[in-house]
Amino acid sequence: MANLLCIGAGYVGGPTMAVIAQKCPEHRVVVADVDSAKIAAWQSDHLPIYEPGLKEVVLSCRGKNLFFSAEVERQIAEADIIFVSVNTPTKSFGQGAGKAADLQYWEKTARQILQHSRTPKIVVEKSTLPVRTAEAMERILHSNDRNLPFDVVSNPEFLSEGTAIHDMENPDRVLIGARDTPSGRKAMQAVVDIYAHWVPRERIITTSLWSSELSKLVANAFLAQRISSINSISALCEKTEADIQEIAHAIGLDSRIGPHFLNASVGFGGSCFKKDILNLVYLCEHYGLPEVARYWDQVVQMNEYQQARFHARMLSSMFNTVAGKRIALFGAAFKANTSDTRESPALNVCRALVEERAEVVLTDPYALDHARIDLAKDAPQVIFEPDPYRAAAKAHAIAVLTEWNLFAELDYRAIYQSMAKPAFIFDGRNILDHRRLFSMGFNVQAIGKPPLIHPAR
Ligand code: NAD
Ligand code: UGA
Repeated sequence: MANLLCIGAGYVGGPTMAVIAQKCPEHRVVVADVDSAKIAAWQSDHLPIYEPGLKEVVLSCRGKNLFFSAEVERQIAEADIIFVSVNTPTKSFGQGAGKAADLQYWEKTARQILQHSRTPKIVVEKSTLPVRTAEAMERILHSNDRNLPFDVVSNPEFLSEGTAIHDMENPDRVLIGARDTPSGRKAMQAVVDIYAHWVPRERIITTSLWSSELSKLVANAFLAQRISSINSISALCEKTEADIQEIAHAIGLDSRIGPHFLNASVGFGGSCFKKDILNLVYLCEHYGLPEVARYWDQVVQMNEYQQARFHARMLSSMFNTVAGKRIALFGAAFKANTSDTRESPALNVCRALVEERAEVVLTDPYALDHARIDLAKDAPQVIFEPDPYRAAAKAHAIAVLTEWNLFAELDYRAIYQSMAKPAFIFDGRNILDHRRLFSMGFNVQAIGKPPLIHPAR
């Protein structure tokens, strides 16, 4: 039996440790956070994040071998293995502002671990970090005069929001990096043993610390690059009457390319893709590799272009003015099946339309609370409406910005009747039946597809 602690009870810390607790009933698992309101939510019936299947996992072990605590320092003292899953956002100030990772929460945690440890610890990097951060961690931890041994292990997390529980239960791989020393190998084995409770051993891969840290940034960069690549081609499709979904299907059948992450969209969002690529760009610049930096920076620029292109297209289709027009935005979350709105393209489109003085109504099944907070400062006039039918009533246009199934299943005939005419639909996720909508009377514009516009009568 070991005492496992996770510092950081967010989108990663909460779900990952809940699954570890469920799969390893002999271990005591504590998730601690400075945010006591978040801890209280983890202890309640209203978990702080929406994630399919999460509640069932939490309820199966909470109070047995899974605990949530705001007493970070006391928990450090009692732990054998400490996972650190604090946020590592893009730095907004000083050197590297706008690109480098802000490591202040990470470093604070390292110092807290040092200060409150009385026994040897294995410290596991779960947060996404710049390559060679473990070295800084080791230097902080080894600056103790008690000769306490600490081993730093890298174990980046690859789960996606919306499928976090499934991804944790059936990971493509678990990556663990450590020093190639006797104590490093022992620490690595301790972490391998946790995952080996349910992950087939051949899917648990072990590498050097630096390969493990860098693999995480590279995995996100490659995934985001695929989206930017297909989105770049969607712009060409819109000029040539080629269809981006037909192209994605045709190229995805090539087993060397594969079908995943080829859905053209209004752009990728989420807390990590942009920040991790910018971090990679910063690292390349730091190591004197400007050509490599520029190559990856283009992935982010293409994503911004795609979002700007989307609202510019809305504006030009709607006779170059949306001032005073009601526009219903379907979706606030950065993807389906999550309440997370961090870096959501939906909110960027929303802000751009508010700037054009449209009357924007935002609807989403789970993300309106977060959206309300995000938009409070720069777009306080946005209307939040949980019912998509009410959101669309009297609207000149609907824009689908999150791929919730719910939006594909609405009664669009009834919605059309309730809207101002001519009625427009902009499908930023290509989830609707465009020909059917066109036959109902809608003017339809989708990503990377020829427009379906009714001629003036
Ligand atoms: P989050 O903001 O949801 O959670 C981080 C938590 O850490 C917050 O609750 C915060 O209060 C807490 N925290 C910060 N400093 C602390 C301290 N000193 N002591 C105790 N708690 C502290 O972030 P997240 O989305 O869970 O991401 C965490 C890390 O995991 C990031 O590095 C991110 O890049 C990475 N990651 C995220 C995802 C994802 O899907 N969100 C997936 C893989 C990796
Ligand atoms: C992503 C990675 O997929 C995870 O492996 C990684 O652990 C995580 O980032 C992280 O480090 O935070 P996540 O951001 O939760 O996970 O969600 P994704 O499914 O990757 O989607 C990201 C964005 O890309 C969403 O806005 C989504 O709608 C968009 N997307 C995705 C597309 O536009 N097209 C696609 O084909 C796929």
